[in-house]
Amino acid sequence: MSLSNVLERIYGEAAKVQQAHYSAALAIFARTYGPGPVHVFRAPGRVNLIGEHTDYNHGFVLPVALDRDVLLLARPRPDEVVRLYNVEPAFPPSTFVIGPTIPPAPRGDWSNYVRGAAQMVARQVGPHVRGMDALVESAPPHGVPRGAGVSSSSALTVVAALALAHLNDWQPDPVPFARLCSEAEWYVGTRGGIMDQFIALLARPGHALFLDCRPQGPDRYTFAHVPLPSGYRILVADTGVRHANVRGEFNLRVAACRAGVACLRPHYPGITHLRDVQDVAWAELAPLLPEILTVAEARARGADLNDVPLPTDAAELRVRACCRHVHSENERVRATVAALETGDIAAVGRLLSEAHASARDDYDISCPELEALVEAARAVEGTIGARLTGAGWGGCIVALVRQEAVPTFEAEVPRRYREQTGREPTIFACRARGGAGFLGVYN
Ligand code: GLA
Repeated sequence: MSLSNVLERIYGEAAKVQQAHYSAALAIFARTYGPGPVHVFRAPGRVNLIGEHTDYNHGFVLPVALDRDVLLLARPRPDEVVRLYNVEPAFPPSTFVIGPTIPPAPRGDWSNYVRGAAQMVARQVGPHVRGMDALVESAPPHGVPRGAGVSSSSALTVVAALALAHLNDWQPDPVPFARLCSEAEWYVGTRGGIMDQFIALLARPGHALFLDCRPQGPDRYTFAHVPLPSGYRILVADTGVRHANVRGEFNLRVAACRAGVACLRPHYPGITHLRDVQDVAWAELAPLLPEILTVAEARARGADLNDVPLPTDAAELRVRACCRHVHSENERVRATVAALETGDIAAVGRLLSEAHASARDDYDISCPELEALVEAARAVEGTIGARLTGAGWGGCIVALVRQEAVPTFEAEVPRRYREQTGREPTIFACRARGGAGFLGVYN
């Protein structure tokens, strides 16, 4: 099939713009590696409608794939070498040899996402993994914004794993593959959950993915594609703020949840994740959870923190508040799905607002710019609800907005945000595209 037909199928009315985007990437590939056939892959970023920091607690999430992709163009090599080139000069070229234990580049190097993916593929397909010459393209305006809480890193992990799997004739089922990709990403040192990789691979156009992150058996997950309401748009607005220590803060939240599990275990034997007590009333759980534990105290209570990189043993974990967020957030995800099913959009808006308050007050992942942007979004008549989205500490908000209010939103939100912070936000509409894939071989 021609590239333009494939793009038409993926991007609909935006296919023409994307054609120029892909053609430019193909031209850069040819300049970098020489002329000849090129395998083309894409993986989308995502915005999470609701269900924040629940996935690694085996809870519920409701993400949507964006129409912003990480593209990876590749040509197989006869050896086990991966040569990586990024169209953006801020991300320098990198070369490594694929194998079951790939040494990482220095912390923060973008190639570590690809190294983690390659290591996972090597462990699955066995010896003699075929390498590739690859070009990664995720630049604005079509790429997935980096560090913005819309999962550019998982899109890169997924697209790299997909390319190497394809070039090595490995055709995994999407669910085990998504799980393997989520574990592959631990390579970079953040103990994330499965949400981002699952939506990148399982997304369906026009739908959100309601995913239960608790496996029902090895690689058995329950999920459903929930249609997005017609007459409304999901808008994403980026604060432009990037927190320097998201990895450290993130891991502290993971540790706080695991500390909670350790404190509850004597009362609920056998629990491994907070999800195991989801159906117990919060009023019963709260008195069993200390407000604060240090990392050392959490370990002494039996919290399993060995695989979570943490700063010091003296670091404080807000155990009760973090657990309360997870417990209440899981309920909100279920209620949001029910409200979407019955068309009760006002209830969806209320739930989004409550989720934001819980993320800010209990999970402590907001910042002044996110607050200013959420407030600016809510001030627009026609905004049904708005909340921070993604890991937090900067990045994006997500807003559900009545279709006819979109132009006002696009004009008013930047004005108010600018007034409050002196910064310019980037706003874009989420068009809920499909999941990652191989597009074909082109020149
Ligand atoms: C990051 C992680 C996800 C999830 C979110 C917070 O995006 O990669 O697994 O935990 O943060 O909801």
